[in-house]
Amino acid sequence: MGKPFYVTTAIHYVNDLPHIGHMYENIVADVIARHRRRMGDDVWFLTGTDEHGQKIERSAAKEGILPIELADRVVEHHHELWKRLDISHDDFIRTTESRHRLGVLELIRRIEEKNPGDIYLGEHSGWYCQSEETFIPENQVRDGKDESGHPVEMTTERNYFFKLSAYTDRLLAHYRENPGFVKPASRLNEVVSFVKEGLKDLSISRTAIKWGIPFPGNPDHVIYVWMDALTNYIAALGFGSNDDAKVGKFWPADIHLVGKDIVRFHAVYWPAFLMAAGIELPKSVVGHGWWLRDNEKISKSLGNVVRPYNILDDFGPDALRYYVLREMVFGQDQNYSDEALLNRYNADLANDLGNTLSRAVKMSDTYFGGKTPPIPCNDNDLEKAAKQIVPEYLRAMDDLAFQRALEIAWKLVTATNGYIVAKEPWKMFKENGADDALSRVLWNCLEAARIVWVMMAPFLPRSTKLALERIGADPSFISHEALQWGGLPNGAPIQATDPIFPRVDISQYIGKKMDETTNAAPPAEATQAAAPDAARISIDQFKEVDLRVAEVRAAERVPKSKKLLKLTVSTGEEERTIVAGIGTKYQPEELVGRKIVIVANLQPAKLMGVESNGMVLAAELNGEPSLLSVDAGTPAGTKVR
Ligand code: MSP
Repeated sequence: MGKPFYVTTAIHYVNDLPHIGHMYENIVADVIARHRRRMGDDVWFLTGTDEHGQKIERSAAKEGILPIELADRVVEHHHELWKRLDISHDDFIRTTESRHRLGVLELIRRIEEKNPGDIYLGEHSGWYCQSEETFIPENQVRDGKDESGHPVEMTTERNYFFKLSAYTDRLLAHYRENPGFVKPASRLNEVVSFVKEGLKDLSISRTAIKWGIPFPGNPDHVIYVWMDALTNYIAALGFGSNDDAKVGKFWPADIHLVGKDIVRFHAVYWPAFLMAAGIELPKSVVGHGWWLRDNEKISKSLGNVVRPYNILDDFGPDALRYYVLREMVFGQDQNYSDEALLNRYNADLANDLGNTLSRAVKMSDTYFGGKTPPIPCNDNDLEKAAKQIVPEYLRAMDDLAFQRALEIAWKLVTATNGYIVAKEPWKMFKENGADDALSRVLWNCLEAARIVWVMMAPFLPRSTKLALERIGADPSFISHEALQWGGLPNGAPIQATDPIFPRVDISQYIGKKMDETTNAAPPAEATQAAAPDAARISIDQFKEVDLRVAEVRAAERVPKSKKLLKLTVSTGEEERTIVAGIGTKYQPEELVGRKIVIVANLQPAKLMGVESNGMVLAAELNGEPSLLSVDAGTPAGTKVR
């Protein structure tokens, strides 16, 4: 087994169902875990639920049920959701479990043993925020509210305290000596400035709350939720129990992945508790950005939650996983929108990734009898590209720069498409049949696609398995070695079936018309009519013809016809069938991926039994068609005028 690697998410409150922010956090942790496993590490990935405290107490009281009943119910949703999202955690901890309580009590015992006096009974007055369950420093309170707009109250408590003030210098020294302790660097700066302002002792018990772990030796108090919750990371490994082998193996954690709002708890309180207990500190606290709706943080208290369960139902986990990782620059904030998600899905997954795969598979299927080509190929442009791209991609993965990693992987998708266009395998077949040269070219395409998919494995685990099977590769061959050129077997069965990512009609799905501007009326002066001329048509007559750029998604011959091809074309918003009389000049394979121009608003017509919805524009020279085309970068759906 490889070196141990321990990654955790924050544990999520169970006062409500998980939303996109929680999903994002678990998806990111899952990508990290899958990447490390792929690199051979012995990974332990922990997630869980934070079940004590006032929020849960109140939510349960509202429903007239016990907090544990609420927690039991909501935690089921967590389990179900993580399964639906293909989250591959190794353990799930609930703070209401006895193993967790043992860990918390052991932490307090160790602090009292190693540093007697660091926990003491005292009195404290200050601004308390019930929503955040924490005291807010004076300088962050404005007009009775904290920085997030939650109300605060002046509160006096007789509580147990932790002598946080004694750890200011040690914490600052730790940040100085371990600049990677808080990532990204901007978050480290925030933490350092906060600590430099001086730390006050922290109240670590509450008497007003009943729903929590009783304070050792004084059951009138329960342990402060943050001290309780933070300990989950080590309690889950068996800390404080008879079997703490996992503590020896996996502690200190490599990454605590949390949202930027709770970096402070993880990078100030948690290390101070651990220092006091004589326990090693985690290696890094990584703060991710927020998902926003209309530039506001998505959260239950703001009432703007997004739970894209419909997207999960209709498109599966990979569409959502891809979107959140491709769209958000890791560490920064990002607005969520279903429409942006579906655009990414169509453009990147259905079009780029799906098409490259299906073109290469389809041609190998036709030319090499449903198998991967018989001859492998070394020393070619795609191999060179892969050898350059893979290390760059791995560096981005190690830097947690997921958006960049995907962009880099895409270079190989683009290179593969370019290679297909340049080599024109359909022409090679027409001229020389399924010879060695064609075998090499198609093997290269499939091999590059295989490497692309191994790069996608942490992001799109479900589709990767399907894609690798289709290519004729072993779907479990996902490792560092699998990223090297040359792993595709020869003569292995391939599957040319339906697309993995079928395109979606976005406007129909979202239920609203998009691109209003395309259909907007032109300015008045442009429409002023000149004297009518019977031999010419007016601009209005011309405008009745809806000419559009379309992209050919699939093409096949209409049975028993030399001339007719049945094309499936995308107009950006939808797919349709058009029958075109261009079969004497064009092979179906060479058309896939090509941008053409169509008449989009023609009445449907049946040609040799196949319904055609539109017409493909082509010039005609000596009875031979010559397709009208546009620059490759013009999106399908663009209006032609
Ligand atoms: N229970 C505490 C964490 C204790 S960890 C010892 C908590 N729970 S939470 O349910 O409010 O949040 C769980 C995680 O989700 C946190 O890391 C939080 O930052 C993250 N997110 C909550 N809303 C978010 C967004 N809108 N966007 C991205 N992540 C955010 O805090």
